[in-house]
Amino acid sequence: MLVCHCNIITERDIVSSIQELLTEDEWRLITPLQVYHVMSKRGRCCGCFPKVVDIIVKTTEAWHREKATPEAEVVDFVGRLRAEHDRMARQQAEARARMRKIRGAA
Ligand code: FES
Repeated sequence: MLVCHCNIITERDIVSSIQELLTEDEWRLITPLQVYHVMSKRGRCCGCFPKVVDIIVKTTEAWHREKATPEAEVVDFVGRLRAEHDRMARQQAEARARMRKIRGAA
């Protein structure tokens, strides 16, 4: 099934790229940009990205189901996600504080 009309990319191409990324690191957070990078493509209109995200979720779930990943590793992964989320939130707060300071100085 054709998913990306701009780059003529099928669902099979996308699944294959996701599996390649999961082979490198099965706990990485995969984004549409990473998937397109593997295929040496770039998003143009990016209208296909929501569908690509659906395919990423479906493929990643199937990957871990097939590998029968132990529960402890899944819990560790959730912890890593939470830590990454906290780190991003801190960086956003710091950036907002810097912008307020710059605007206040002007
Ligand atoms: S449909 Fe995929 S980039 Fe436009």
